[in-house]
Amino acid sequence: MDVLQAIKGRRSYRSFLDRPVEDEKLQAILDAGRWAPSVMNLQPWQFWVIKNPDVIANLKAASQETLQTIFQASGWKWVSKFSLEFMSEAPIIIVVAGDPQKTGADQFLPGRGQGYAYSCCAAVQNMHLAAHALGLGTLWFTLYETEKVKEIIQLPPELDVVSMIILGYPSNPDASMKRKDLEEIVKNVD
Ligand SMILES: Cc1cc2nc3c(=O)[nH]c(=O)nc-3n(C[C@H](O)[C@H](O)[C@H](O)COP(=O)(O)O)c2cc1C
Repeated sequence: MDVLQAIKGRRSYRSFLDRPVEDEKLQAILDAGRWAPSVMNLQPWQFWVIKNPDVIANLKAASQETLQTIFQASGWKWVSKFSLEFMSEAPIIIVVAGDPQKTGADQFLPGRGQGYAYSCCAAVQNMHLAAHALGLGTLWFTLYETEKVKEIIQLPPELDVVSMIILGYPSNPDASMKRKDLEEIVKNVD
């Protein structure tokens, strides 16, 4: 699949088939993550692959609590209705962990020091695109509390949880989300 086709065709999925992901596809997705650009090529990431249904159930239960916390703080009704069923439907969750110590020269600039997280996000997007190109579906998922996730998967304390990728064969047809027009977001500096 052409890269521009992959970029435009990828969508977020929140419903998955009861179908395992082939190991060679998983390896290809992780490999795509590895080739992302990173600050000073520090590659400040680890990809924690979770297939164990008990661990996934624990992550889901923790996120259910997190939704309550977000709802209490925001009052947003959609949060109280947000279903996490996709977490138990999808056969794999990849936790992308980043090392805040590996953040490059930006740590010496005021208000910066997020290079590690930006790098991890580049890896996350590579993995989303690779999964799409291989006929799989993904969700970029962030409704979790870092400390809870760290405890459940026993992540080393110095690492940060940058994102979760929910991965599987999608069951719902593509619901295309619109994008703003280029005219609205491109500003030319003369
Ligand atoms: C940083 C980031 C965090 C996100 N977190 C969540 C999330 O926690 N739950 C969710 O359902 N979608 C999440 N998304 C997916 C967005 O909702 C989705 O990308 C957006 O609505 C556009 O839809 P599309 O991906 O299908 O084009 C996240 C996306 C990004 C980039």
